Amino acid sequence: MRVLAIGDVTSPGGIAHLEKHLWRVRREEKIDFCIVNAENAAGVYSYTPEQAERLLGAGADVLSGGNHTMRQRASYGILDENEALLRPINYGGEAPGRGYTVMRVGGVRVMVICAMGNIHIEPTLDAPYAFIERALAREKGNYDIAILDIHAEATGEKLSVAHAFDGRLAVAFGTHTHVPTADLKILPKGTGYVSDLGMCGESGGILGMDAEGVVKKLRYHLPDRFVPSKGAPTADGVIFDIDEAQGVTVALRRICF
Ligand SMILES: [Fe+2]
Repeated sequence: MRVLAIGDVTSPGGIAHLEKHLWRVRREEKIDFCIVNAENAAGVYSYTPEQAERLLGAGADVLSGGNHTMRQRASYGILDENEALLRPINYGGEAPGRGYTVMRVGGVRVMVICAMGNIHIEPTLDAPYAFIERALAREKGNYDIAILDIHAEATGEKLSVAHAFDGRLAVAFGTHTHVPTADLKILPKGTGYVSDLGMCGESGGILGMDAEGVVKKLRYHLPDRFVPSKGAPTADGVIFDIDEAQGVTVALRRICF
């Protein structure tokens, strides 16, 4: 089966971009299943319930999350109700929503896990390994392939998590930095890996945001509102071809539209 994963949607402009293009790309590339990281879709802070519905209507089968997912209180209800929406699994069982889901795609049971790193991003979180291990154990026999979104800042941590579960995950892709990396590879036991998918939103600024506000904050330490950049929207993603009988990736390549 063929899976498309798209990097962090950074703004409502990114949502509109997917509404305009994603179904066409899915048809042209014969995509069976699509995961979109939506943790910044409202512009930094997660998404509203209406924006989540729009992204699902645009062609996303699962909306993955990250460190900003829980900052949109209006979405706690939909996180609880909709099995296609994920927040990081290492937030624990008492947080609203879920950290993984299992969906049927044709005859294939696809498990998608969202986990966060804790190096240079959210040091109070427990590391993701034990959470992923427990989820895979709990669902043993209930899924054919497993896909992980490792939402983290440090490339080394993303690689470490992917290697720790090499061969047990068909795919481990990184998100959060909004910068598409060139290190696509298949790990020794078959996990398809990339350190960061990139982003979906207005180009030309800094990680999707207009450069002026970011420079003001980082250079002068002055508070400012981040607004989306003014360039044309684009979407960065990676297409994974998966052998569902073995639960591993056999080919992967980048896509940008
Ligand atoms: Fe993030």
